[in-house]
Amino acid sequence: MSAVEELIARSNRLGADPRNTNYAGGNTSAKGTAVDPVTGEDTELLWVKGSGGDLGTLRPAGLAVLRLDRLRALADVYPGVNREDEMVAAFDFCLHGKGGAAPSIDTAMHGLVNAPHVDHLHPDSGIALATAADGEKLTAECFGGRVAWVPWRRPGFQLGLDIAAIAAAHPQAIGVILGGHGITAWGPTSEECEARSLEIIRTAAEFIAARGRPEPFGPVISGYEPLPPAQRHARAAALAPVIRGLACTDRPQVGHYTDTDVVLDFVSRAEHPRLAALGTSCPDHFLRTKVRPMVLDLPPDAPLADVVARLRELHAAYRADYAAYYHRYAGPGSPPMRGADPAIVLVPGVGMFSYGATKQTARVAGEFYVNAISVMRGAEAVSTYAPISEAEKFRIEYWALEEAKLARMPAPKPLATRIALVTGAGSGIGRAIARRLAAEGACVLVADRDADSAAAVASEIGNADAAVPFTADVTDEEQVAAAVAAAALAFGGIDLVVNNAGLSVSKPLLETTVADWDLQHAVMARGSFLVSREAARAMKAQGLGGDIVYICSKNSVVAGPANLAYGAAKADQAHQVRLLAAELGGDGIRVNGINPDGVVRGSGIFAGGWGAQRAAVYGVAEEDLGAYYAQRTLLKREVLPEHVAAAVFALTGGDLSLTTGLHIPVDSGVAAGFLR
Ligand SMILES: NC(=O)c1ccc[n+]([C@@H]2O[C@H](COP(=O)([O-])OP(=O)(O)OC[C@H]3O[C@@H](n4cnc5c(N)ncnc54)[C@H](O)[C@@H]3O)[C@@H](O)[C@H]2O)c1
Repeated sequence: MSAVEELIARSNRLGADPRNTNYAGGNTSAKGTAVDPVTGEDTELLWVKGSGGDLGTLRPAGLAVLRLDRLRALADVYPGVNREDEMVAAFDFCLHGKGGAAPSIDTAMHGLVNAPHVDHLHPDSGIALATAADGEKLTAECFGGRVAWVPWRRPGFQLGLDIAAIAAAHPQAIGVILGGHGITAWGPTSEECEARSLEIIRTAAEFIAARGRPEPFGPVISGYEPLPPAQRHARAAALAPVIRGLACTDRPQVGHYTDTDVVLDFVSRAEHPRLAALGTSCPDHFLRTKVRPMVLDLPPDAPLADVVARLRELHAAYRADYAAYYHRYAGPGSPPMRGADPAIVLVPGVGMFSYGATKQTARVAGEFYVNAISVMRGAEAVSTYAPISEAEKFRIEYWALEEAKLARMPAPKPLATRIALVTGAGSGIGRAIARRLAAEGACVLVADRDADSAAAVASEIGNADAAVPFTADVTDEEQVAAAVAAAALAFGGIDLVVNNAGLSVSKPLLETTVADWDLQHAVMARGSFLVSREAARAMKAQGLGGDIVYICSKNSVVAGPANLAYGAAKADQAHQVRLLAAELGGDGIRVNGINPDGVVRGSGIFAGGWGAQRAAVYGVAEEDLGAYYAQRTLLKREVLPEHVAAAVFALTGGDLSLTTGLHIPVDSGVAAGFLR
């Protein structure tokens, strides 16, 4: 195996186990020789995981490749710790050829440590020792001389020099605990380096288990025990939109909810307010979690109204504290404050809500806080948790290099952070809408009465960060409430609803049964009323406005043949658009409709008998129905589900932000369907 192959395999193994490092945390390297194409001679190279990316899924393209002689020569021109950031730009002058990932801040550590293989990781057990008040003493007790201690220093060139010096001074050492931060291990072979990383992680965990006192978080506070699961989820779903509304005060964000045992245990115990206030320590953690979480200080059985009122007070206090922290440490050259809302909100008995610019970042922020809880547990078990100082946290949070990294992020998609619920999304038009909204950046709850088709469409769109399937019959009040609750639990709330579920029976008046009439009105008139009511409730709790879109029909305004029950139900939906636009405008909720016509391809309605009936009514073969509809339009073009989805995006993508109460025909031009 080549050095690169070994490095990738080792990185993937280490990154696959969350006990070894957090998501996208840590980096690995190997040194070796390759022919320099300029001289034809062997040259020493460093392959090191580049900026961004995750060890578990690292590929060769994620490595930065540098000339070791040039990298090490930087020590001779290093201008000192106050100007160490300049060395990151200098890494570009050490690169070997084009391509590869950008070298990260940790490149210096990997290059300067004089060992062929180096791992830098963020294991909870290692960070627990690193953040213990007497971490240096505990490290010596835990490892003897086999692992050395490096006092806290912000990642950078100087930290690389520090570690290299300590490694040189302790030839028997296999690695170091980095105060406040994580671990670094090295070895003569890739295999030995990996074994040593695992040895440090395992030994620290065993030491904490053997030496640690039981219940480091203190006794359970009476009344703060977790609610039973069903009540817990109901409370979480009720609170999610309120908390998301608060967390989006500065900018819109997506939410993630977890009620994992680690969180429920932490927030039930006496020490959690003190520890939460101390904040997270590992830079990787608090860049995502913010320095400290917002913590509700009421028991889970407190009345909902009291909880909401208290959350508002705590949020105002959190923002004031954060602004004070920023102003305490910001200097003339500091980047502007990035927003004062919490990224993590802890609710005793219920769980944790975390927030980010995408579902993935919101979820990872939550995962990092779970790491931070394990770190605090370990540190408190053997000592006292003592994270790095607030001033140091500020230096990292508002570091010019961090700011530059954020500035390099691609511009968000038009519907980024928006949480959509599409009914009847398992087929035809609803499927096309769900796919389009997701492609534009929205998180989508793919709801349908048919579980299999909802699941198929959600998995077509992507993983659970992008789309989640939900089985709900829109005629059922409880199932509709459950769908909106599911959106709140999956993504934090709801911003955009598409009332699309529908079905059609074409019959003349005398053949229309009461059951035909009731079914169509139940699914389309009643169903969209129920969905709009439940969604509006959550949108009002969120206070972020929203969009409700009705997929009505040309038949809501055109008196089509043999179409009484369907046309009347569609007219009902069309008037709901106007009534709700008028009623909900004050809350910033816009309500609009779309009038499609003749969408044959992909439509279950047409495949399920309606097509045959319509074909018979118009006297054409069923397979020619799409072409028939196209020929009777002004534009002579067939209407596809994607055209309807495009209209939903036009209404909700931001360009029509002052439009409400509108119906847009998507029918290739049908004069009888013109609106006035
Ligand atoms: N296809 C057209 O030409 C056309 C024209 C105008 C309006 N529309 C409207 O567009 C919407 C979608 O139609 P389509 O052609 O994509 O049909 P479709 O049959 O392909 O999709 C409708 C979906 O709604 C679901 N559904 C039905 N009843 C439900 C219920 N009670 N609860 C939850 N889900 C339910 C179905 O399972 C199906 O997945 C309907 O409201 C329809 O009236 C369609």
